[in-house]
Order: sequence, then structure tokens, then C-alpha cells
Amino acid sequence: MSSLSRISFFYLFFVLTLALLHAPCLVTSSIYRYRSNSVAHDTASTNSAKHHHKWVGPVGHLVVTVDVKGDGGFQSVQAAVDAVPENNTKNVLILISAGYYIEKVVVPATKPYITFQGAGRDVTIIEWHDRACDPGPNGELLRTYRTASVTVFANYFSARNISFKNTAPAPMPGMQGWQAAAFRISGDKAYFSGCGFYGAQDTLCDDAGRHYFKECYIEGSIDFIFGNGRSMYKDCELHSIATRFGSIAAQDRNSLDEKTGFAFVGCRVTGTGPLYVGRAMGQYSRIVYSYTYFDDVVAHGGWDDWDHVHNKNKTVFFGVFKCWGPGAEAVRGVSWARELEYDLAHKFLAKSFVNGRHWISPADA
Ligand SMILES: *[C@@H]1O[C@H](CO)[C@@H](O)[C@H](O)[C@H]1NC(C)=O
Ligand SMILES: *[C@@H]1O[C@H](CO)[C@@H](O)[C@H](O)[C@H]1NC(C)=O
Ligand SMILES: *[C@@H]1O[C@H](CO)[C@@H](O)[C@H](O)[C@H]1NC(C)=O
Repeated sequence: MSSLSRISFFYLFFVLTLALLHAPCLVTSSIYRYRSNSVAHDTASTNSAKHHHKWVGPVGHLVVTVDVKGDGGFQSVQAAVDAVPENNTKNVLILISAGYYIEKVVVPATKPYITFQGAGRDVTIIEWHDRACDPGPNGELLRTYRTASVTVFANYFSARNISFKNTAPAPMPGMQGWQAAAFRISGDKAYFSGCGFYGAQDTLCDDAGRHYFKECYIEGSIDFIFGNGRSMYKDCELHSIATRFGSIAAQDRNSLDEKTGFAFVGCRVTGTGPLYVGRAMGQYSRIVYSYTYFDDVVAHGGWDDWDHVHNKNKTVFFGVFKCWGPGAEAVRGVSWARELEYDLAHKFLAKSFVNGRHWISPADA
């Protein structure tokens, strides 16, 4: 009993800390440009004859190489990004050799159409170690959103076969200011495949815009996918390293007008628990798990309403559709996160949730 209440005390502590430190996001403006059905970077032409939409996407290709040992055009990823001209109009493929890139990287909004391609997510790793309580360049606390090892403000970013890490130590219960993001995506129409995201609290800041994550591995402890993105996670592994209590997704939709939300399809939930699968960061938070396997790690109740005072359990949209595994029953643990009928679930099942028909090729979905 006393250890139970201690656990919930610590958890409440996390929740309060989180509520205090999740600063309002910096939302970049989106350029709703049409992109042809192909996002393959070696396609020679724009295929403009094949469709009726006017082509306004990137023209031409540029390939640059990064090698930490000095065998490429650049030795750091940031140096390669810096070399891309402002207002870039080409597809830029940045090939990053195997190795550890110990640096903080920012892709500014003026540099769209950049792809980071690693040699495999186990061998090409970009990492840094900032925490929310660390001081930034101006002496003020960094806070959660500025801790990310890699931050992307640009639209049409993609990453393949590469990992992003925040190596700050995982917080012990009750520690404040230890949020430490590995990646922050604030640009629109971002695509990730075969990527790894490693951290503890707040690993992946899915901040703003439409995003598609395919076959990615995402590891963390508390709210390890969070923000107000409109995102689909397809065939991903969500791996918890929580020691007392953890939570996977905290979605920050704040009004009924927003089309944001997290749709998990065909994922696997593994690791340690007990774990909440979703938390109501925003009043109108939306999180749906479909065809997802849950290991026996889900906390009683499955979901958390964030603060117990704003009646978020009446305004959120949390649901599951055809999930399975030993933890699946617990995911249906509260009346406000139900098993959905197909009619309600179907829009969370396909890439149309992120308008993917216009920017994700069938082969990439
Ligand atoms: C990029 O575009 C912006 C907005 O159109 C413009 O103000 C800026 O000067 C451009 N930068 C360069 C280097 O051309
Ligand atoms: C990424 O890795 C997978 C698995 O190793 C491989 O099949 C695929 O071709 C790689 N993709 C790229 C773009 O290198
Ligand atoms: C919803 O949350 C309120 C507190 O905000 C709580 O009093 C109520 O019991 C909850 N309802 C359900 C169905 O869990």
C-alpha cells in the first residue's frame, strides 16, 4: 500500500513537472506544396506527364557525403546542412557513413527537401545530451523543446536508416527538468523509415505538421512520443525503458478544429512497465492504436487524463482497433478509450490520415 502510494506520488510529480515544462510549441508555417507521387531521390525527372497537378516541388538533385572519419565531403552533419543554400529547390540527399556523430543538428525552415540517409540505424548515429534544465546559449533554461539532438523546421524532410539519440541519463523518480529529446520534427510532410529514436523522457518531439514513420524503433520512458503533430506510425516498435511508471504517447491537440493526432498502425509495444499507452496532453488529444501488439506492460486503466482537473476524459479521442497481445485487454481499461467500430477507426488506418497520397509513394507507405 505504502509503496503503491509512493509510486503514484512520484508519478504525480512527473505529471506536474511535465505540465510545467512542456512549453508552447514553436509552430513553423507550412508550405502546402504539391509533391509528385515519388519521393525517391534518384528519380531523374518529375514525372510531370503522369499526373495533372502542376509541379511546384524540387527540381534537380544534389548528393553530398558525410563521414566522421574524414572520407566524405563533410565531417559533420551540420556542416553538410550548412552547405545547402538557403531557399533550396533541389532534392538534397545527405549520405551519412557509419559512425557516431556527436553533435547537435538543426535543419532550418529555409532548407526543404533534405534527406538524411544513414548506413543502417545500428551503425549511423547522431547524438547529443541536452536536458530541459540545462542552460541554453543565452543563459536561460533550454526547456524541453530545445533539448532535441536533431531539430528539423524544414518541410519535406526525410530520414532513412539512421538513429537519433539523446544520451542524457534517464531521470530518477521526482527529478525535474530531465526531459531530453532526441529528435524534434516541426516541419510539414516529413517521412522517416528504418530510423531509431533513443532517449528516456520525451524522446521524440512530434511537434507540428504531417509526418509518417515507417518501421522505426522508438525508445523512451515518459511521454516518449509527444507534441501536436498529425502523424502515422506504421509497423514501428515502441519500446519502454520505464522503471516505475511510463507512458508512450502524449498528444497535444487543443481544439476540435485541429486535424492533429497520432495514429499507430501495426506497431509493437515492448519493454518495461507499467506503462500508459496515451496521455491527454491537450484538451482534445487524439490517439488511436490499430492492429498493434501489446506486451504485458500496460498499466491498469491503460490511459491517463494528464491532470485529473480539466475533464479531459470527456473531450479526448482515444481508441483502439483490433489490437492484440497480452497487454491488449488493459488498453481497453477506461470507458473513454474504447474499441472503435470500423466507421470511426478507418480514417486512422491509412496514409490519407496525413494526406499521404500527395507526398508518400505507394512503395514508401
Ligand atoms: C530566401 O527567401 C526569403 C523569402 O522569400 C528572402 O527574404 C531571402 O532573402 C532568401 N534568401 C536567399 C539567400 O536568397
Ligand atoms: C535501409 O535498410 C534496410 C534494411 O537493412 C534496407 O533493406 C534498405 O534498402 C535500406 N534503405 C536505404 C535507402 O538504404
Ligand atoms: C473523468 O475525470 C474526472 C476528473 O477530471 C473524474 O472525476 C471522473 O470520474 C472521470 N470519469 C471517468 C469515466 O473516468
